[in-house]
Amino acid sequence: MKVEMKLKGNMARSVNPNGCKQEVLNQINYVKKQGDYEGTKKALVLGASSSYGLASRITAAFGSHADTIGVSFERGPKDETMLGTAGWYNNIFFKEFAEKEGLIAKNFIGDAFSLEMKEQVIDYIKQEFGGEIDLLVYSLAAPKRTDYKTGITYSSALKPIGQEVSGENINLEKEELFIQTVEPATEEEIEGTVKVMGGEDWEWWVELLKEAGCLAEGFKTVLYSYIGPDVTHAFYHDGSLGVAKEQAEESSKRINKNLKSLNGESLICVSKAVTTKASVVIPILPKYLICLYKVMQEMNLHETPIMHKDRIFRTMLYGTESNYDEKGRLRPDSWELRADVQEKVNNLMAQLTADNFKTDLIAYDLFKKEFFNLNGFDVDGNTNNDVDVAELMRMKP
Ligand code: NAI
Repeated sequence: MKVEMKLKGNMARSVNPNGCKQEVLNQINYVKKQGDYEGTKKALVLGASSSYGLASRITAAFGSHADTIGVSFERGPKDETMLGTAGWYNNIFFKEFAEKEGLIAKNFIGDAFSLEMKEQVIDYIKQEFGGEIDLLVYSLAAPKRTDYKTGITYSSALKPIGQEVSGENINLEKEELFIQTVEPATEEEIEGTVKVMGGEDWEWWVELLKEAGCLAEGFKTVLYSYIGPDVTHAFYHDGSLGVAKEQAEESSKRINKNLKSLNGESLICVSKAVTTKASVVIPILPKYLICLYKVMQEMNLHETPIMHKDRIFRTMLYGTESNYDEKGRLRPDSWELRADVQEKVNNLMAQLTADNFKTDLIAYDLFKKEFFNLNGFDVDGNTNNDVDVAELMRMKP
C-alpha cells in the first residue's frame, strides 16, 4: 500500500514508517559524525518518541553509549486506514538500531503521568536495568493529565493571559497565511496548563525513583523550557504555557534540594524554537519560525532538534560550556535570542504577506519539510512510500 502525507490544519493524519526509519537513522548518523563524548550511561527519557525527547535519547545512546528507557504515548497500526503514529515507529526503529550496537533500549508505551507507569519503570530499572539511572530527561508535551492523587483530569490550553492576541498564522494544509485571534485563558485553563505542563509530575517521578533507590550518585535531571523573544511572549512566555514553565522552575529548585544527598542536579534547559508536533499548533508561532529559520540558516546557526540536543548534551550537560544564566538555567537558546538574529527576524516578519510567504524571502519550504519529516515524509535518503500493513502490525516497540 502507498502512503502519502495527509494533513488536517497543522496536524498530520498519515505516516510513512519507512521515512520514520530513515529519519531516525539520519539523526543517529548526525550524532556519530560528531564523535563520542563522556555523558550518561543509563538514561530514562519521558516523551522519548519524537522531537526533543527522541533527539535526547539518540544523542545519549549514539554519542555516549547509554542504555536508555523511553516512555511515550503513541498508537500502533490497526488497519490500512489507521497506521498509527510516527512516534510508534520511531520507538521501534530506535530500539532496532540501538540493539544492533549492543545497547539496551526499552520502550514503555502509556501514560507517563500515571502511578502505574512510574511503578512499571521503577520495577524494570531494579530488575533489568542495573538498578539505577544517572539521567532523567523530562520532555513531555501533552494535552491532558490525570492527577493520580486526586483523580482529577486537567487539560492544557496554550493561550495568552489577560488579553486577546491576534496575529498571522500558517495553515499547512491549505498553505495559507491567516489571521488568528486567541482569547485569553480563564483561571481554570491556566491552572490546567500548569498541572499538565508544569513540574509537579516531574517532581513525583524524581521522588519515587529516589525512594526506590534508583538514582545513581551524581544523577542529573533536565526539563526543557522555552522563553523566546518579545514577539512570541504574548502567547507563550507571558501566556499559560509560560506560567507552567515558571512553575517548573520552582519544581527544579525543590528537586535540587531533594538531590543534594546524591550530589545530583536538576536543570531547566531553555531550548530553541523548533518544528515539532507540539510547536506547530502553538498559535502564531509558525509565522515566527519561518522567519527565524531563514535568518538562522543564512547565519549558519539553524538547528533541528537533534543538532540542538546533541550540542546541549556534549557542551553543556556533560561539557564545560554550561553558561548557566542568573537563575541557574542552561541557555542554548542564546543563538536564537542573539540581538542581530532577532533584528533580522523582526525585519522579515514586517515584510511577510499572504502573497510572499511561500517565496525564498523566508524559510516556509524548510519549515514544511521539517514538519513532513516528523511524519516520515520527504525524508532525505528515503524514496520508499510503499508499506506492508501486515508486516507493520507485527512490529512491536
Ligand atoms: P513532541 O510533541 O514532539 O513530543 C512530546 C512527547 O511526549 C512524545 O514522545 C509523546 O509521545 C509524549 N507524551 C505526550 N503525552 C504523554 C503521556 N501522557 N505519557 C507519556 N508520553 C507522553 O514535543 P516537543 O516539541 O519535543 O516538546 C517536548 C518538550 O520540549 C516540551 O516540554 C516543550 O515545552 C519543550 N520545548 C519545545 C520547544 C519547541 O519549539 N518544540 C522549544 C522549547 C522547549
